Amino acid sequence: MGVADQRTMRVGIKDVARAAGVSVGTVSNVLNRPDVVRDETRFRVEAEMARLGFVRNESARQLRQGRSRTLAYVFLDATNPFFTDVARGAEAAAERAGLALFLCNSNGDPRREDRYLDLLHQQRVRGVLITALDYANPRLRTLPEQGTPVVLVDHPADIASAWCSVAVDDRLGGEVAVSHLIEEGHERIAFAGGPLALPQIADRLEGARRAMLAAALPEEDLVVLETSAQSFACGREAAQRLIGLPPARRPTAIFCANDLLALGALQQFTLAGVAIPSEVAIVGYDDIDFATAAAVPLTSVRQPRDKLGQSATELLVAETTEPDHEHQGVTFVPELMVRASTRGQERRGARRT
Ligand code: RIB
Repeated sequence: MGVADQRTMRVGIKDVARAAGVSVGTVSNVLNRPDVVRDETRFRVEAEMARLGFVRNESARQLRQGRSRTLAYVFLDATNPFFTDVARGAEAAAERAGLALFLCNSNGDPRREDRYLDLLHQQRVRGVLITALDYANPRLRTLPEQGTPVVLVDHPADIASAWCSVAVDDRLGGEVAVSHLIEEGHERIAFAGGPLALPQIADRLEGARRAMLAAALPEEDLVVLETSAQSFACGREAAQRLIGLPPARRPTAIFCANDLLALGALQQFTLAGVAIPSEVAIVGYDDIDFATAAAVPLTSVRQPRDKLGQSATELLVAETTEPDHEHQGVTFVPELMVRASTRGQERRGARRT
C-alpha cells in the first residue's frame, strides 16, 4: 500500500466558490472589488474562506495587476534604535498609503545587502528605502532603471540626483556638537566614529573640524578615533584608547558619531573611574531614547527619526504614483539636546540656523 500522500492541498478560489455556492468570479470580486458584491453574499464567501483556511496568493495578484503592495527598508544594524525608530515612521506612512513595509537588516554585511536588494527586486516590491553601506553599489542605480525606485535614508541629496533622499545636515550636526564642547571650555577633543567610508559619518567629522577651525583651535587637537562600526562595543574600545593616551595629550571631551558609541564610551569611562563630565565630557548623535535614560543623561545631536522615516516613505510612494515625479532631497536641521554628560543641568540647546 503506497504511503498516503501527506501533502496538504492549498485551498484555492474554486474550493471557496464551490463551498459558498457562488461563481469563481464572485469570489474574485470579494477579494478585489468587494463593493460590487451584496453584503449577504460577501459574508457567506468570507465565512467559507475562514472555514477552509483560504489565503490569497499575493504573488499571483501582483503578476495580474503588476503592482506590489509592499515597500522595503534595508538598513545597517537592527540593534541600533536609530534604525528601528526610522522604520516605525516609515511603517506609519506606508500604512497610510495602504502598503506594508518589509524590514531588512544588512548587519553591516555588503553581501547580505546585495542579496536583499536582488530578492526585493525579484519580488517586485513597490520600492526600496535604504541606508546603504556603499552608495557606489551599482544595484542602487540598476534597481530604479529596472522599475524598482530607491530612496536614500540618512544620506544627503548631494550624492547625486539619481534618487530622492532624506537626512539631517550631518556637517552642521558635527559642528554643533563640537562647538558646544568648545563653549564648555574644552580644547582637546576626540572624535569617535566609523567606518569613515560612510558619508554621514565623514560629514560629522567634517563638521567637527569646522568647529575647531572656527574657534582657531589647532586641527591636531581633534583626536580622531576611527571605529570599525557605530556600535556599543566600539564605543567602549574608543574610550579605552582615549584613557590610554598620555595625560598631557588626553582629550577632555569626546564627540561620538552616534549614541551607541557614546553609551559604550560612557560605560567604559565609568568602569575606569573616569568622572563624567568633569574629567571627560561626552556628546552623542541621534538622541535615541536610551540617551536620556543613561546613568549620566547624554548630550546628543537629535535626528528626527520618525520624520526621516515618514518623509522617505512619502517620497517613495510619490515616485511610484506620480508620473511627473522629480527627485528631491529633504534635509532636516540638527538640534543639540544638552544634558548632564557635558553640563550639570539639562536644557534644550540652541537650534543653530
Ligand atoms: O547611518 C549611520 C549612522 O547614522 C548610524 O550609526 C545611525 O546611528 C545614524 O547616526
